[in-house]
Amino acid sequence: MTYNDKVVRQFVIMTVVWGIVGMLVGVVIAAQLWLPVLNFDIPWLTYGRLRPLHTNAVIFAFGGSGLIGTSLYVVQRTSHVRLISDKLAAFVFWGWQAVILSAVVTLPMGWTQGKEYAELEWPIDILITLVWVAYAVLFFGTIGKRRVSHIYVANWFYGAFILTIAVLHIVNNLSYPITIYKSYPIYSGAVDAMVQWWYGHNAVGFFLTAGFLGMMYYFVPKQAERPVYSYRLSIVHFWALIAIYMWAGPHHLHYTALPNWLQSIGMVFSLILLAPSWGGMINGIMTLSGAWHKLTTDPVLKFMIVALSFYGMSTFEGPLMSIKTINALSHYTDWTIGHVHSGALGWVAMMTIGSLYSLIPRLIGEKKMYSVKAVDIHFWASTLGVVVYISAMWIAGVMQGLMWRAFNPDGTLTYSFVEGLVATKPYYVIRLFGGLLFLSGMFFMAWNTWKTLRSKEMRPIPASEPADWGEHA
Ligand code: HEM
Ligand code: HEM
Repeated sequence: MTYNDKVVRQFVIMTVVWGIVGMLVGVVIAAQLWLPVLNFDIPWLTYGRLRPLHTNAVIFAFGGSGLIGTSLYVVQRTSHVRLISDKLAAFVFWGWQAVILSAVVTLPMGWTQGKEYAELEWPIDILITLVWVAYAVLFFGTIGKRRVSHIYVANWFYGAFILTIAVLHIVNNLSYPITIYKSYPIYSGAVDAMVQWWYGHNAVGFFLTAGFLGMMYYFVPKQAERPVYSYRLSIVHFWALIAIYMWAGPHHLHYTALPNWLQSIGMVFSLILLAPSWGGMINGIMTLSGAWHKLTTDPVLKFMIVALSFYGMSTFEGPLMSIKTINALSHYTDWTIGHVHSGALGWVAMMTIGSLYSLIPRLIGEKKMYSVKAVDIHFWASTLGVVVYISAMWIAGVMQGLMWRAFNPDGTLTYSFVEGLVATKPYYVIRLFGGLLFLSGMFFMAWNTWKTLRSKEMRPIPASEPADWGEHA
């Protein structure tokens, strides 16, 4: 019996493709914020339509394909068994691509529920539900048939991601369909906002964090050829993280109609969230104990360590921004956009890229990509790109916050809104440059992936082959 690596390869290739598409749209909207005429007066290309296309493409198409692909790879290796059904695996792959293509068509047409990260209309939501249930059956069914008693911690994180996203998606998308492309949520007013940000924040917590921690717990030890630093810490990390994330959503609704006590609960849970987040980061980084020298020669490990550093940084910044007085300055400004991308580019994208560079050669029985030099160039393009991007946004954000709250002695505003925009413009140009740099690295990845996978046939890997990340006490 061999592993089903066909579906893994399909997802891996589409992760790279959607990464390029999603980031390209990101670059386009970054350029539009600098030069609005770049929408060419074509409705489909306007900022309001392309922005949700960007977020959906990077989170669900790029991140989602990376998560599903790696989870199906990891669950087979750590369970020593092939996926329970090849047909179901094919359905998950083609179904997920159909969801993404529907988004690519409907979002530029302006068909939207108007809920951030849950823009897609009800028929697509139903398709997502079907594909997700199939994915859950495939993943948990494979775990159920495992030939080792132990369930490796990476699977716990992937499992939490799959279950929680199912619940979040269904609850937040409950709506009354009016026509085939329009529906209205069953919630209204402050309740609608609360449900939306319970969803939104946990999309960050479970899609953009827990799933990628699953990736981290498998691929970092694998690439470093060291066991996880502390298995006990990984279990504490898991339970603490999933228990606390659920309650932090109200920090997105500070100073709104949401009851004040709820906002405070959101703030307190966000502050507590620092502890498990850093526990996970420390566990990942310390896995390199005794293997630090590998960082000088292995750019794949560099991707992973920088990703973990950004994880630590954005989970320090997040709790800070959840403090009401600080949020009074940061909210509505580009500081939030800086925070988002230090998590999204620094943590999510770099961990995905690093893990794929570790996984792709193993599909053909190798340990290295076709060109290690190209991986190194990609690493520097990404690292510099994200640093340029987020530094520009931090400076712009704090400046905007300070300009908006500046008052003259007579109580009038010191700066008009337009003056704030004019002052921001140079930073939008710098951000565009950072984004272009990050995107350019993805082309090296596409070329390198193509060369690696073309260089040899896929190796049918026996399902009994032990996972070589090291067994744990
Ligand atoms: C080349 C890389 C990228 C560029 C140039 C880029 C650019 C942008 C721009 C211009 C915005 C709109 C900001 C605004 O409304 O003021 C945005 C929003 C966003 N991007 Fe990206 N992006 C990139 C990569 C990514 C990646 C890889 C992810 C996720 C994995 C991501 C997630 C998001 C999210 C979640 C938002 C919405 C933020 C919010 O509403 O606060 N981006 N991006
Ligand atoms: C301890 C962990 C974290 C906490 C407590 C936290 C907290 C926050 C806070 C307070 C905001 C600003 C809300 C506002 O003013 O509107 C925010 C926005 C955001 N954060 Fe985090 N953050 C954390 C980690 C992360 C990570 C790791 C990522 C990405 C991978 C991320 C992605 C986002 C996104 C996408 C938004 C923008 C949401 C929107 O308005 O569209 N966060 N976060």
